[in-house]
Amino acid sequence: PPVIVRTLPALRRALDILRTRNASLALVPTMGALHDGHVSLVRQAKRRAGKVAVSIFVNPAQFAPNEDFAAYPRTWKADLARLTEEKVDLIWNPDAKTMYPAGFASKILTEGPALAGLEDRFRPHFFGGVTTVVGKLFAQVRPDLALFGEKDFQQLRVVARMARDLDLGVKVMGVQIVRERDGLAMSSRNRYLSPEHRASAPALYRALKEAAKRIRAGDKLAPALAEGAASITAAGFKLDYLEARHAETLAPIAARKDGPIRLLVAATIGTTRLIDNVAV
Ligand code: PAJ
Repeated sequence: PPVIVRTLPALRRALDILRTRNASLALVPTMGALHDGHVSLVRQAKRRAGKVAVSIFVNPAQFAPNEDFAAYPRTWKADLARLTEEKVDLIWNPDAKTMYPAGFASKILTEGPALAGLEDRFRPHFFGGVTTVVGKLFAQVRPDLALFGEKDFQQLRVVARMARDLDLGVKVMGVQIVRERDGLAMSSRNRYLSPEHRASAPALYRALKEAAKRIRAGDKLAPALAEGAASITAAGFKLDYLEARHAETLAPIAARKDGPIRLLVAATIGTTRLIDNVAV
């Protein structure tokens, strides 16, 4: 079974032992409530590195006061069972006082085109919390490789940028989105959906796929996105954004020729906010 550590001294001791055989180490950062999307990151990590660590920490710094920090699902027993089954070597499960001791006053600030008007516009607190906690996780665990899901595409790009900018020596790798059979991207928050909203939710992915198909067929971006937005709204969502961005830099893009395109969407149904994205 995995070694479970909850304090920094215990983490250091566990890492000393893991590292003795010179094996490379991969880290999969999570907030727990693990599903097949997380497990796919773990399996990819096992393929790429000799040892695999998974962190489970529901990071208060990336939730706004009106968001679901208190209600965020915590399923420790099931998470431990899955990570044991996947033969993970180490689980890093610090508490909030270990991560943010009294007097904690630092923040990693990442800016640039990857932070120009997608999630950051609707959740202004979010990326400050993510980069700071991921920077700390990298400093604590010092992995060779860290894996992030394309599900949170902007997060993947922002974390990769940060790791490069700050010379953290961690290779950040993206892993493709794992979906339910009807196309809905797996998410710990899907369990908040009522049965009716769950039935409507695949409209998000359908709209993305349809818009991508039209753009590949030569349609202009604006009408393809407008039609996608209309079908998302018709399914009962309140749309935050549906945008075409440069797949690497996330800079806004005006035409297909301006680069590899990623379509990204965020929308709320009932009280649940969902995000998704596809490559064009
Ligand atoms: P969490 O939402 O638990 O997600 C952990 C990792 O799993 C992220 O890299 C996310 O992109 C990936 N993931 C989630 N659903 C996925 C899916 N359906 N397919 C593929 N990958 C998926 O993202 C976070 O936690 C936090 O922001 C964190 C990075 C841990 C920092 O607190």
